[in-house]
Amino acid sequence: MSKLVLANLKMYQSTKESVDDYINKLKEVKDKFIVFPSTIYLEKFIQNNFTCGVQNASVHNPGPYTSEVSIHSLKNMGIKYVLLGHSEVRQNMAEDDELINRKIKQAINNNLKVILCIGESLEAYNQSQTKIILKSQIEKALKDISEEVIISYEPVWAIGSGKTPTNNEIEDITKYIKSLFDYDVKVLYGGSVSDENINTLNEIPNIDGFLIGKAAIDPSSLMKIIEVAEK
Ligand code: PGA
Repeated sequence: MSKLVLANLKMYQSTKESVDDYINKLKEVKDKFIVFPSTIYLEKFIQNNFTCGVQNASVHNPGPYTSEVSIHSLKNMGIKYVLLGHSEVRQNMAEDDELINRKIKQAINNNLKVILCIGESLEAYNQSQTKIILKSQIEKALKDISEEVIISYEPVWAIGSGKTPTNNEIEDITKYIKSLFDYDVKVLYGGSVSDENINTLNEIPNIDGFLIGKAAIDPSSLMKIIEVAEK
Protein backbone atom coordinates (compact mmCIF):
# COMPACT_ATOMS: atom_id res chain seq x y z
CA MET A 1 0.00 0.00 0.00
CA SER A 2 1.42 3.38 -0.89
CA LYS A 3 1.58 5.94 1.86
CA LEU A 4 -0.34 9.13 2.36
CA VAL A 5 1.64 12.27 1.55
CA LEU A 6 0.27 15.50 2.98
CA ALA A 7 1.75 18.89 2.04
CA ASN A 8 1.14 21.48 4.74
CA LEU A 9 2.02 24.74 2.97
CA LYS A 10 1.37 26.77 6.14
CA MET A 11 1.56 30.51 5.31
CA TYR A 12 4.62 30.19 3.07
CA GLN A 13 3.00 31.12 -0.24
CA SER A 14 2.11 34.78 -0.56
CA THR A 15 1.70 35.58 -4.27
CA LYS A 16 -0.70 34.32 -6.91
CA GLU A 17 2.27 33.77 -9.22
CA SER A 18 4.04 31.44 -6.81
CA VAL A 19 0.84 29.43 -6.39
CA ASP A 20 0.32 29.20 -10.17
CA ASP A 21 3.89 28.05 -10.62
CA TYR A 22 3.48 25.47 -7.84
CA ILE A 23 0.27 24.11 -9.36
CA ASN A 24 1.84 23.95 -12.77
CA LYS A 25 4.89 22.03 -11.59
CA LEU A 26 2.89 19.55 -9.53
CA LYS A 27 -0.18 18.93 -11.67
CA GLU A 28 1.24 15.67 -13.05
CA VAL A 29 1.42 14.21 -9.54
CA LYS A 30 -1.68 15.86 -8.11
CA ASP A 31 -3.37 12.52 -7.43
CA LYS A 32 -0.49 11.36 -5.28
CA PHE A 33 -0.71 13.84 -2.42
CA ILE A 34 -3.12 16.00 -0.45
CA VAL A 35 -2.38 19.71 -0.32
CA PHE A 36 -3.18 22.04 2.58
CA PRO A 37 -2.62 25.52 1.14
CA SER A 38 -3.32 28.94 2.60
CA THR A 39 -7.10 29.32 2.77
CA ILE A 40 -7.13 32.13 0.19
CA TYR A 41 -5.50 29.86 -2.42
CA LEU A 42 -7.75 26.85 -1.87
CA GLU A 43 -9.98 27.81 -4.77
CA LYS A 44 -7.08 27.71 -7.23
CA PHE A 45 -6.06 24.23 -6.12
CA ILE A 46 -9.65 23.01 -6.26
CA GLN A 47 -10.10 24.44 -9.77
CA ASN A 48 -7.05 22.45 -10.83
CA ASN A 49 -8.49 19.25 -9.34
CA PHE A 50 -6.01 18.85 -6.50
CA THR A 51 -7.24 16.97 -3.42
CA CYS A 52 -7.36 19.65 -0.77
CA GLY A 53 -7.41 20.01 2.95
CA VAL A 54 -7.62 23.05 5.15
CA GLN A 55 -5.11 23.94 7.88
CA ASN A 56 -7.76 24.88 10.45
CA ALA A 57 -11.40 26.00 10.53
CA SER A 58 -13.98 27.59 12.78
CA VAL A 59 -15.75 25.56 15.42
CA HIS A 60 -18.96 27.49 14.70
CA ASN A 61 -21.79 27.03 12.27
CA PRO A 62 -22.17 29.86 9.70
CA GLY A 63 -23.13 33.02 11.57
CA PRO A 64 -21.79 36.14 13.28
CA TYR A 65 -18.11 35.18 13.66
CA THR A 66 -15.97 37.93 12.13
CA SER A 67 -12.78 36.64 10.44
CA GLU A 68 -13.62 32.95 10.78
CA VAL A 69 -14.13 30.35 8.04
CA SER A 70 -16.83 27.75 8.57
CA ILE A 71 -16.27 24.06 7.98
CA HIS A 72 -19.61 24.09 6.21
CA SER A 73 -18.34 26.56 3.57
CA LEU A 74 -15.10 24.64 3.13
CA LYS A 75 -16.95 21.37 2.62
CA ASN A 76 -19.21 23.15 0.15
CA MET A 77 -16.26 24.30 -1.96
CA GLY A 78 -14.86 20.77 -2.24
CA ILE A 79 -12.42 20.47 0.64
CA LYS A 80 -12.01 16.87 1.79
CA TYR A 81 -9.70 17.05 4.82
CA VAL A 82 -9.08 19.26 7.84
CA LEU A 83 -5.89 19.46 9.88
CA LEU A 84 -6.67 19.98 13.57
CA GLY A 85 -4.45 20.31 16.61
CA HIS A 86 -1.32 21.38 14.73
CA SER A 87 1.23 22.55 17.32
CA GLU A 88 1.60 25.96 15.64
CA VAL A 89 -2.16 26.47 16.01
CA ARG A 90 -2.13 25.15 19.57
CA GLN A 91 0.63 27.67 20.40
CA ASN A 92 -0.13 30.72 18.27
CA MET A 93 -3.89 30.59 18.52
CA ALA A 94 -4.10 29.16 22.00
CA GLU A 95 -6.20 26.17 20.93
CA ASP A 96 -6.60 23.58 23.65
CA ASP A 97 -7.70 19.95 23.52
CA GLU A 98 -11.26 20.84 24.43
CA LEU A 99 -11.64 23.24 21.49
CA ILE A 100 -9.93 20.74 19.19
CA ASN A 101 -12.46 18.13 20.35
CA ARG A 102 -15.34 20.44 19.41
CA LYS A 103 -13.76 21.20 16.03
CA ILE A 104 -13.33 17.49 15.30
CA LYS A 105 -17.03 16.95 16.02
CA GLN A 106 -17.91 19.86 13.74
CA ALA A 107 -15.72 18.42 10.97
CA ILE A 108 -17.21 14.94 11.32
CA ASN A 109 -20.73 16.37 11.23
CA ASN A 110 -19.81 17.96 7.90
CA ASN A 111 -18.22 14.74 6.56
CA LEU A 112 -14.69 16.08 6.40
CA LYS A 113 -11.83 13.69 7.14
CA VAL A 114 -9.87 14.76 10.20
CA ILE A 115 -6.10 14.69 10.58
CA LEU A 116 -5.45 15.12 14.29
CA CYS A 117 -1.91 16.36 15.02
CA ILE A 118 -0.34 15.39 18.31
CA GLY A 119 3.18 15.75 19.65
CA GLU A 120 5.32 16.34 22.70
CA SER A 121 7.55 19.31 23.57
CA LEU A 122 11.32 18.95 23.81
CA GLU A 123 11.05 19.12 27.58
CA ALA A 124 8.53 16.26 27.65
CA TYR A 125 10.70 14.26 25.24
CA ASN A 126 13.78 14.75 27.43
CA GLN A 127 11.81 13.61 30.47
CA SER A 128 10.51 10.51 28.64
CA GLN A 129 6.94 11.78 28.95
CA THR A 130 6.09 11.39 25.25
CA LYS A 131 3.58 8.55 25.57
CA ILE A 132 1.82 10.17 28.53
CA ILE A 133 1.41 13.42 26.59
CA LEU A 134 0.22 11.71 23.41
CA LYS A 135 -2.31 9.55 25.27
CA SER A 136 -3.74 12.60 27.01
CA GLN A 137 -3.95 14.59 23.75
CA ILE A 138 -5.72 11.70 22.03
CA GLU A 139 -8.15 11.04 24.88
CA LYS A 140 -9.13 14.69 25.23
CA ALA A 141 -9.31 15.52 21.52
CA LEU A 142 -11.34 12.40 20.74
CA LYS A 143 -13.63 12.42 23.76
CA ASP A 144 -17.08 11.05 22.79
CA ILE A 145 -15.97 10.49 19.19
CA SER A 146 -16.13 7.02 17.68
CA GLU A 147 -15.74 7.97 14.01
CA GLU A 148 -12.37 7.22 12.41
CA VAL A 149 -9.69 9.91 12.21
CA ILE A 150 -6.10 9.96 10.98
CA ILE A 151 -3.36 10.74 13.51
CA SER A 152 -0.23 12.70 12.63
CA TYR A 153 2.56 12.32 15.16
CA GLU A 154 4.61 15.51 15.07
CA PRO A 155 7.06 16.11 17.91
CA VAL A 156 7.00 19.88 18.52
CA TRP A 157 10.79 19.93 18.68
CA ALA A 158 11.08 18.28 15.25
CA ILE A 159 8.89 20.77 13.38
CA GLY A 160 11.00 23.09 11.25
CA SER A 161 14.14 22.23 13.23
CA GLY A 162 15.87 19.81 10.89
CA LYS A 163 15.77 17.25 13.72
CA THR A 164 13.77 14.03 13.77
CA PRO A 165 13.41 11.17 16.24
CA THR A 166 15.19 7.96 15.26
CA ASN A 167 13.34 5.42 13.14
CA ASN A 168 13.11 3.12 16.18
CA GLU A 169 11.53 5.88 18.24
CA ILE A 170 8.97 6.69 15.56
CA GLU A 171 8.18 3.01 15.08
CA ASP A 172 7.68 2.56 18.83
CA ILE A 173 5.45 5.64 19.14
CA THR A 174 3.43 4.63 16.08
CA LYS A 175 2.85 1.19 17.58
CA TYR A 176 1.83 2.79 20.85
CA ILE A 177 -0.63 5.18 19.16
CA LYS A 178 -2.18 2.29 17.19
CA SER A 179 -2.61 0.32 20.43
CA LEU A 180 -4.86 3.09 21.80
CA PHE A 181 -7.47 2.60 19.05
CA ASP A 182 -9.99 -0.15 18.48
CA TYR A 183 -9.80 0.34 14.71
CA ASP A 184 -6.87 0.22 12.32
CA VAL A 185 -5.96 3.89 12.71
CA LYS A 186 -3.63 5.45 10.17
CA VAL A 187 -0.61 7.13 11.77
CA LEU A 188 1.51 9.64 9.88
CA TYR A 189 4.83 11.15 10.89
CA GLY A 190 5.57 14.88 10.52
CA GLY A 191 8.47 17.11 11.53
CA SER A 192 11.42 17.99 9.30
CA VAL A 193 10.62 15.36 6.66
CA SER A 194 12.75 16.24 3.62
CA ASP A 195 14.00 14.86 0.34
CA GLU A 196 17.24 14.04 2.20
CA ASN A 197 15.81 11.94 5.03
CA ILE A 198 12.76 10.44 3.30
CA ASN A 199 14.63 7.28 2.25
CA THR A 200 15.48 6.60 5.89
CA LEU A 201 12.06 7.54 7.28
CA ASN A 202 10.32 5.44 4.66
CA GLU A 203 11.93 2.33 6.17
CA ILE A 204 9.77 2.64 9.31
CA PRO A 205 7.58 -0.45 8.90
CA ASN A 206 4.32 0.68 10.53
CA ILE A 207 4.04 4.28 9.34
CA ASP A 208 1.11 5.14 7.04
CA GLY A 209 2.43 8.37 5.56
CA PHE A 210 4.04 11.73 6.09
CA LEU A 211 2.97 15.30 6.82
CA ILE A 212 5.46 17.64 5.20
CA GLY A 213 5.84 21.36 5.86
CA LYS A 214 8.85 23.31 4.61
CA ALA A 215 10.11 20.69 2.16
CA ALA A 216 6.69 20.62 0.47
CA ILE A 217 7.10 24.22 -0.66
CA ASP A 218 9.68 23.15 -3.20
CA PRO A 219 7.97 21.14 -5.96
CA SER A 220 11.07 19.10 -6.77
CA SER A 221 11.58 18.12 -3.10
CA LEU A 222 7.94 17.18 -2.79
CA MET A 223 8.10 15.09 -5.97
CA LYS A 224 11.11 13.19 -4.63
CA ILE A 225 9.32 12.56 -1.33
CA ILE A 226 6.22 11.30 -3.17
CA GLU A 227 8.35 9.00 -5.32
CA VAL A 228 10.05 7.44 -2.30
CA ALA A 229 6.86 7.17 -0.22
CA GLU A 230 5.22 5.28 -3.08
CA LYS A 231 7.70 2.40 -2.77
P1 PGA B 1 8.12 20.84 8.78
O1 PGA B 1 6.64 21.01 9.28
O2 PGA B 1 8.13 19.76 7.74
O3 PGA B 1 8.49 22.19 8.21
O4 PGA B 1 8.96 20.47 9.96
C1 PGA B 1 5.79 19.92 9.44
C2 PGA B 1 4.48 20.40 9.98
O5 PGA B 1 4.47 21.36 10.77
O6 PGA B 1 3.41 19.87 9.64
